[in-house]
Amino acid sequence: MAYRIAPSLLSADFARLGEEVQAVIDAGADFIHFDVMDNHYVPNLTVGPLVCAAIKPYATVPIDVHLMVSPVDALVGEFAKAGATYITFHPEATRHIDRTIALIRDCGCKPGLVFNPATPLDYLDWVVDQLDMVLLMSVNPGFAGQSFIPYTLEKLRSARHHIHAAQQRTGREILLEVDGGVKADNIGAIAEAGADTFVAGSAVFTGNDYRQTISALRVALEKVS
Ligand code: DX5
Ligand code: ZN
Repeated sequence: MAYRIAPSLLSADFARLGEEVQAVIDAGADFIHFDVMDNHYVPNLTVGPLVCAAIKPYATVPIDVHLMVSPVDALVGEFAKAGATYITFHPEATRHIDRTIALIRDCGCKPGLVFNPATPLDYLDWVVDQLDMVLLMSVNPGFAGQSFIPYTLEKLRSARHHIHAAQQRTGREILLEVDGGVKADNIGAIAEAGADTFVAGSAVFTGNDYRQTISALRVALEKVS
């Protein structure tokens, strides 16, 4: 299993974002996770496409844009132009899920659907074949530094079944990402439950030595059977 670590810039130093992006990539990050919040879909406000475009020259790995905004569609083209590789959105935040997925694909990006802790996985029944990523929130979206919600482990197992079946049908890779409260002491259990891509905000950026923190996450992953 190839595991990917995606540090979330939400916990980075916003006055030095370009350097922070470079530093976590040098330390071994596989993706840059870019959290977009609108103070409407979630009770917090972060950054938009201008900031994504500003960090793009520093991002030598894919930018994984997590849209916590409603409506979604108007921002898709903006983030595609700003250099996003993945664009993920919450099904509750758009009126027409199938249309938004198609729009992301038409803009040249990889679409992903994000499930809040209490949102059922039923949406996958019809659209999983069109996705490149399924993202399970293991905290309620809006803030870094929250605790991992334990029932996400069972949900990950269920999402892994959906993805496995889709991959058998289509042969296409679909990443299973988890976001919220991921640390060195729980990443092993999260991987065992089926995740292959791990967002880590506070776990990476609150330490002084990014390489050491990312290595600790990888060491824990190596122990997964
Ligand atoms: C929360 C964001 C997360 C957040 C994760 O709404 O989507 O990406 O930054 O932060 P940690 O890893 O600190 O839980
Ligand atoms: Zn996120």
